[in-house]
Parts: sequence; structure tokens; C-alpha cells
Amino acid sequence: MTGVEGRWRILPDRPIESIADYASFGGGRGLARSRDLSSEEVVDELTRAGLRGRGGAGFPTGAKWRSILRGGGQHHYAVCNAGEGEPGTFKDRALIRSNPYQVIEGLTIAARTVGAAEAFVGIKESFRIEMGRLTAAIAEFEEAGWLDGIGITVVAGPEEYLLGEEKAMLEVIEGNEPLPRWLPPYLHGLFATAPQLGWESHEAEPGHLGTHTSNPTLVNNAETLAQAAWILSHGADEFRKVGTEESPGTLVCTVVGDVVHPDVFELDMGTPLQEALDHAGGSRPGQMVKAVVPGVANAVLTSDHLGTPLTYEDMQAVGSGLGAGGFIVYDDSACMVEVATTLSNFLYVESCGQCLPCKLGTGHITRALLAIREGNGSESELDEIEERLRIVADANRCYLPVQEQNLISSILRLFPDDVAAHLGSSCPAGKRTIPTPKVVDLVDGVVTYDQRQELKRPDWTYG
Ligand SMILES: Cc1cc2nc3c(=O)[nH]c(=O)nc-3n(C[C@H](O)[C@H](O)[C@H](O)COP(=O)(O)O)c2cc1C
Ligand code: SF4
Repeated sequence: MTGVEGRWRILPDRPIESIADYASFGGGRGLARSRDLSSEEVVDELTRAGLRGRGGAGFPTGAKWRSILRGGGQHHYAVCNAGEGEPGTFKDRALIRSNPYQVIEGLTIAARTVGAAEAFVGIKESFRIEMGRLTAAIAEFEEAGWLDGIGITVVAGPEEYLLGEEKAMLEVIEGNEPLPRWLPPYLHGLFATAPQLGWESHEAEPGHLGTHTSNPTLVNNAETLAQAAWILSHGADEFRKVGTEESPGTLVCTVVGDVVHPDVFELDMGTPLQEALDHAGGSRPGQMVKAVVPGVANAVLTSDHLGTPLTYEDMQAVGSGLGAGGFIVYDDSACMVEVATTLSNFLYVESCGQCLPCKLGTGHITRALLAIREGNGSESELDEIEERLRIVADANRCYLPVQEQNLISSILRLFPDDVAAHLGSSCPAGKRTIPTPKVVDLVDGVVTYDQRQELKRPDWTYG
């Protein structure tokens, strides 16, 4: 895990050990500068920088902060999303392990800017090392007087993929299950008491009658916050010195799968995908890249796309997306029906079931893929998949079923030979098993996937 060529903005070449160590790299300057600026000026700087959220959607960070700042109501909150659950991704954990200070600096600036007296870090309970590093960094910030009176609480959440979904994360911070609520955090924030749909069948809790509040809440990915601290420290113009007009700055990127040296590293936006794969040692000897899955939210990339610059606009132009900068590489020994089955099953299992088309649809699609994978499928299974993909995201509370649509339809469209070879016969590629690429550790080129995930059932129990 290194910055490329010794240059780094947020992911250092070696772990930062203390707040004094952090200060020796210029840490804390962004926070100091934000104290001299008005909130509107901080937001203007972020907007000029063109920072886009690194949690997956690439939403403009300045616009998000402004919507909370101007969101009305008495209470605002800020949340750092450190629940990293995207398959093939380990960048937030790598960042927090080596530089928790910059994440906390960014969160403190964010809370100050949007007028939040309280901030939270939502993280998985299983991320022990990261929790330890964040808790220690917060304590050091407090002792150094760098928190400016803002209380930061680390909330340990469950293992579910949906923990990282922002509306589910707010539920977990409030002590509930990770089930996405209806309204987004800027409309219905933490501890909000306003009814979400304008009407509820039960009485409002005592103390809240007549004084409903919506508590606009800022939710940003851990990397986004660290990038924001860098921008405040170095300025928008400096931030824009790398990257493109629409995707400025650097990206912390994960490459796993069929490569020699899986890794997490910081790249300039606009670096071609092939260079990222080369940085991870490229394909294994004698193998060629067949497909690259950029997390499970976007369309798969084929070997024709390896020259694509890693920007939001270029990835969109080839029909995919940058996601959270995590790439799962499959070489030509992999069967894409097997890949589709594994990833569809992941989304089915992780769907929470609040929206029937999502839970039932991902289940139907996964079972049809399983039948095809086993050589028991025919055109009728393919028709069923097509029909279910069309409606799986109907009435959806969150983006998960759209991910199923994007990913599964693209695999079936772009790898028709793999699909055709499976109809009525078992896997011609010899059934190489494709594990669910949920990364639980990545150290020195060795990636560990969560073995327990393979036992997880659609009701979130384990077999
Ligand atoms: C199913 C699902 C899982 C998600 N998981 C994560 C996650 O692990 N980490 C994250 O930062 N964002 C995740 N997101 C995106 C968040 O909902 C949210 O958009 C993001 O935290 C906003 O931060 P940003 O603007 O800084 O990108 C997920 C979204 C969905 C639909
Ligand atoms: S769309 Fe799916 S995952 Fe999202 S809230 Fe509805 S059932 Fe749950």
C-alpha cells in the first residue's frame, strides 16, 4: 500500500504514528484554515476544487455540504462512512490504518462547516484495527484541542453490506438494524422526529409532539473527508493540478483478483485502468485479462476497456462507472456465468427485503443463474432473468437492485459466448470456483476474502 512514485496526498508511504507525526507532514493546516473562513467560504473552496464523493456515486462534495449548511432546522450532524463493504474494495480501511488523522481532520472540518456539534464515524465492529486507530486519533485530536468542541463518536455496526448505505447507516447510529429508511440524510437526518412519509400510524414520541425536526445530516465517505482536509490545506488550484476538469485530484484505488500483487494505492485521476492493473503486477503468468468488475454497482469492463482513464466521465462513457475505485480482475480462466452467479448471489443475500421486487427479484435472478451454471438452464431461464432485471428496482428504497441491473445485464450482454456455452451443458471452463470478493484483509500483496460470506443466507443468518 503506497502512494505512487512517493507522491501522496492522503495515503502515505508509511503509517502515520501520532498527531505530532501527522503535523510534521503539514497535518492540521486544513482545519486551521477552515477556522479563518466562513462556512460558505469553505464550501466555495470545495466547490472550486470539484471534489466528488469517493463512496461510489461521485456526488459533488461542495454541493452536498452546502445543502446541509442551508438545510434549516436547529440540529445538524456529520457522519463519516467507514463501513466499507463494496466487494473488491479495501481503500478506506487501508487509509484509516495508515492515516486516520486526515479522516478525522476532514470530519472535524465538515462538522464545523455544516454547523454540527456532534459527529459520528460508522464502521463495522469487525474492523478492529481501524476502530483502534480512529479512536486513538480522536483522543489525540481532543487532547491537542483540535476538535473545536465537536464530539465525535465511533459507532460499531454489523457486517451487512447495507451498513455502508447512507440511510441504513443513520439507522445503525440510532441503534437500529441496517435497513435503509425512505428519505435521504439531508431531508431526514439523525434523530429526526418528522414523519418520513408525512403520516405515521403511531403517535410521535413524548417530547417531540409539535416540534418535529428533520436534522439535515451530512454523510461522506472516509476518503472524501480526507481529500477535503487536503483541499483546505493546499487550496483548490493545487488540488486541480492532477486529474481532469470533471474528475480532479487523486483516487485511492484497490486492485484484487487475478493479478500478481493485489494492492491499494493512490493514483492521479485519469490514469488508464491498465496502469492500475500494472501497478498490481498485471495478470498472472500466461493469462490474459478477460474482465474487470469495478465493484458490484456498475457494468463489467472487458479487455477492450483497459485503456479507459479512471475518471467518472470516462468510465461512464464506456457504460460503466468508477464506483469506489475497487477493481476485481478476472483472467481468461474465469467463467463469467460463474462470476455473475456469485455476484448476484451476494446482492440477493445482502438485500434487506423491505422492497419485494428487490428481494424476490435478486433471488429469482440468482436461482436462474445457478440453473444455467449447473447446465440445467435454457432460453426460458434467460427470459426470466431479463424480465426480473426489468422490474427488480421497482419501488426501491436504495440503489442495491439498480446495481443488480447494471452488473448482471452487462455480464450477460458482454460475454454471450460464456452464456451460450452453458445452456444445456455444464461449465466448459472446468468450473473454477469464483469466491465472493468481500475483502477482509490486504497486506503485502495477499488478499483475504471473507469465508463466512459464502455461508450467509438471504435472511442474514449463517449456515
Ligand atoms: C448497497 C450500498 C452500499 C454502500 N456502501 C458504502 C460503503 O461501504 N462506504 C461508502 O462510503 N459508501 C457506501 N455507499 C454509498 C453511500 O450510500 C453514500 O452515497 C456515500 O457514503 C456518500 O459519501 P460520498 O458523497 O463522500 O461518496 C453504499 C451505497 C449502497 C447503495
Ligand atoms: S431496495 Fe433492496 S436492499 Fe434496498 S431497502 Fe429495498 S429491499 Fe432493501
